[in-house]
Amino acid sequence: MNICMIGTGYVGLVTGVCFAEIGNSVWCVDVDEQKINSLKSAILPIYEPGLKDIVEKNIKEDRLRFTTNIKIGLENARVCFITVGTPSSEDGSADLSYVLAVARAIGQSMNHYLVVVTKSTVPVGTAEKVRNIIKQELKIRGRDGLMFDVVANPEFLKEGVAVDDFMCPDRIVIGTDNERTAELMKQLYQPFVRSQNSILMMDIHSAEITKYAANAMLATRISFMNEIAQLCDKVGADIDSIRLGIGDDQRIGRHFLYAGAGYGGSCFPKDVKELISTGHKNNLEMAIATAVDIVNERQKYYLVDMIKKRFGEDLSGKRFGIWGLAFKAQTDDVREAPALVIVQSLINMGADITVYDPEAMDQAKKVFADDYDIHYADNMMEALNEIDALLLITDWQQFRQPDFAEMKKRMYQHIIFDGRNQYDPVHMKNLGFEYYCIGRNCYVK
Ligand SMILES: NC(=O)c1ccc[n+]([C@@H]2O[C@H](COP(=O)([O-])OP(=O)(O)OC[C@H]3O[C@@H](n4cnc5c(N)ncnc54)[C@H](O)[C@@H]3O)[C@@H](O)[C@H]2O)c1
Repeated sequence: MNICMIGTGYVGLVTGVCFAEIGNSVWCVDVDEQKINSLKSAILPIYEPGLKDIVEKNIKEDRLRFTTNIKIGLENARVCFITVGTPSSEDGSADLSYVLAVARAIGQSMNHYLVVVTKSTVPVGTAEKVRNIIKQELKIRGRDGLMFDVVANPEFLKEGVAVDDFMCPDRIVIGTDNERTAELMKQLYQPFVRSQNSILMMDIHSAEITKYAANAMLATRISFMNEIAQLCDKVGADIDSIRLGIGDDQRIGRHFLYAGAGYGGSCFPKDVKELISTGHKNNLEMAIATAVDIVNERQKYYLVDMIKKRFGEDLSGKRFGIWGLAFKAQTDDVREAPALVIVQSLINMGADITVYDPEAMDQAKKVFADDYDIHYADNMMEALNEIDALLLITDWQQFRQPDFAEMKKRMYQHIIFDGRNQYDPVHMKNLGFEYYCIGRNCYVK
C-alpha cells in the first residue's frame, strides 16, 4: 500500500519505517529540511535501538523516501498519517496547531480519495476538527466533491523499544465511523498481529480518549508509588518490599510500580495535563489526574530536597556529578526529563555540575544552551572527578554495576543520591558510601 507519514519524529519515523519494512511504499514528510536531508542519507535525528538498520535497508530497497513536499508525499498515497507533535499549551491543553496545519496542507494538496489517520495523541473531538479543515480547504479549491475519511489511530509505542513495540504491538486501537475504512485499516495492520482480536475497532471519540486513559493510568501508578515511597521515608519502611507485596496480587500486577525521581518524557506529563484540561472544558474535575500531576511535580524535587538537607541551601563551591539526562534509559529524549529540573535547581543554588548520559548529551546541550554553565563529561567516570556527590537520575544499564573502587578514587566525598534505586543500601554502606535513595529508609536524617 502507498502510505504517507506527515511528521517524521519519533512516532512518524518509526511508523513509516515499520510499514516499509513489511513491504509498503512509504513517503515520510517533514517541514524540517535539515532532518529530511539527513534522513535521505540514513542519518537519524534520534537514537532508537534497531532503527538505523531498517532505515538503511528500506531506503536501499526503495520502499522508504523522504521529502519536505507534502504534495509529493500524497501523490499516490491511499492512507496518510498525521504524526506531528501535540505539546502542552500554557494552560495544559494540547496545542493542536501542528495537527491542524497538517490538515490544512492535506486539504490544499490532495487530489484523490484519501484516508487521513490521526496517529498523534489528540484530544477527543480532534478528528472532527481535522475533517472540517480539510473540507474547508477542498471547498476553497472548488474540489468539494473529493472524498476522504478520517480515522483515529493512537500510537502506543515506547521510546527505547519503539521498533519492537510497533512490530509486535499489544493491541492496535482504531476509531472509525464506517466499514470501508475499518476494513482498510485492518488490512494495513494485519501483518503486525497474530490474531484479529488485537485490532480493537471502536468509535472515534473512544479511540481518542483511550490513549489519554492509558497514559494517565500508567502515570497514576508511578505517582502512587512515589507518594507511598515518600511515606516510607517518613516512617522507615521499604518501597521495594511493598512493591513486591502488592505486585504479586494479580489484580495489581508487577509493571509500573517503581518509585523514582518522577516521570518525564514527551507523553505522560502533557497527556495527564491535557486530560485535566478536557475535563475542565466538559465541567468535570479530573481529581485523580490532577493529583497525579501534583505528585509528579513534587517528586522531581525530591532529590533536590535531600541535597538541601544534606548540604544546605547554598551550594556554592560544591560539585555534583549527574548520571543520566534522558527521561528514561534507551532514548536520547530529554523532554520533561526530571534531570533537567534537578540540574537547573542545583545550579540556581550555586552548585558546579558535571553531567554524563550515554545518548542524551546532544539533546541536553540544546536545552541548556548557554543559559547554564554545565560541564559535559566524555564518559561516566569522568563525571565523578572531585565531586561532593553523585546523582543517578536515569537507569541506564551501564550505571547498574559500576566500578565502585574507581568511583571512590575519583569522588571527593563518597556520597550518592540514587533517584532510581539501583543499588543495595547495605552493600553501599559496606563499600563506604553515604547512600541516599527513594523510599528505602535511606533518606537524609
Ligand atoms: N514519542 C513517543 O514516544 C510517542 C508515543 C506515542 C504517541 N506519541 C504522540 O505522537 C505525536 C508525535 O510525537 P513525536 O514524539 O514523534 O514528536 P516529534 O516532536 O519527535 O516529531 C514531530 C515531527 O513533526 C514535524 N512537523 C511539525 N509540523 C509539521 C508539518 N506541518 N508538516 C510536517 N511535519 C511537521 C516536526 O518537524 C517533527 O519532526 C505526539 O502527539 C505524541 O504525543 C509519541
